[in-house]
Amino acid sequence: MVTLREGNTPLLEARQAAQYGGLDHLTFKHQGFNPTGSFKDNGMTCGTAQALRLGMARVACVSTGNTSASMAAYASAAGLQPVIFIPHGNISYGKLAQALEYGARTLQVEANFDQILTLVRQLAERLGIYLLNSINPFRIEGQKTIMTEMLDQRDWRVPDWVVLPGGNLGNTSAFGKALREMKELGLIDRLPRLAVIQAEGAAPFYDLMRARRGKKPPRLTPVDHPQTLATAIKIGDPVSWPKALYEVTASGGVLEKVSEQEIADAKAVIGKCGIGCEPASAATLAGIRKLTAAGVIAPDADVVAVLTGNVLKDPDYIYRYHTGALDAPDGSRIQSNFGNQPVVVPNDAEEIARVLS
Ligand code: F0G
Repeated sequence: MVTLREGNTPLLEARQAAQYGGLDHLTFKHQGFNPTGSFKDNGMTCGTAQALRLGMARVACVSTGNTSASMAAYASAAGLQPVIFIPHGNISYGKLAQALEYGARTLQVEANFDQILTLVRQLAERLGIYLLNSINPFRIEGQKTIMTEMLDQRDWRVPDWVVLPGGNLGNTSAFGKALREMKELGLIDRLPRLAVIQAEGAAPFYDLMRARRGKKPPRLTPVDHPQTLATAIKIGDPVSWPKALYEVTASGGVLEKVSEQEIADAKAVIGKCGIGCEPASAATLAGIRKLTAAGVIAPDADVVAVLTGNVLKDPDYIYRYHTGALDAPDGSRIQSNFGNQPVVVPNDAEEIARVLS
């Protein structure tokens, strides 16, 4: 077993976020409390343990940042050599810093996530490196525990909805599988509905679900140049879409997409609850707000939203938002509707007293 004491992340009630989302109550399952600050740790404990069982020496992943941070830590802890591939200039410094600090051989490739994944799938086989992306089934088995843990913490009371952001869609497939299996085992008597939220500029799975009616079999049309400041979910060709499609359908779930402005504002509201999260995670609350407004989620529904990453993953985004300097990928300025501008003051007690009064 390879462990850094992942899991056991809290369920947090958030009144202000509930109100913003059009709900009476809202609970966050905060995966940012994990050792490397994201839900990837639940899968990586399992994935690296399997690499050891197989006698592998090197492990690799392509990542928008969190998988690489997590894999770097777990591989190094296990005495394995981590090799990570990341899109050059497109991951947050918090995540890149973690990978460097945890000792990963770090290759910044001049391509986007989808292109690098194709490249690395070939390379891993050729070089005998064990691939720990979420196409690895042991990662998915590990991430299933997020749902088991959540239900255990709620004394097995099934929520009406589980809301999560969708990128490569590994987590959607893990959550769906976990819930179905718990129902088959008789641990729960019904399935919560999954609501998967994507960023507008990287929403191929949303488009697929929209276009699906009447057409068979469904096929995902990749987004060639995905765009979003929520870099964790900046993915145009998610590999796990067939599994995710199966799980969302089995749960009677829905897809929603949200704009850059909606993500940024929802993120600030989660911050004001004293909770905080990274941009991709905030897509959940932005999505809930749209889904309650559309009458899809009822105001009195029992909703658990999964915050996938820690607030400190992307401090640059936060500073820019609060100081009114955050630009969307299309160049438009994001309004800091919940901005909190820092104030520069002189080294003078009188002046500071004046500012504070
Ligand atoms: N939220 C965060 C913070 C993530 O890092 C990711 C994925 C997701 C949501 C989406 O999860 O891919 O299972 O649908 N990050 C991956 C990475 C792609 O490389 O760290 P998904």
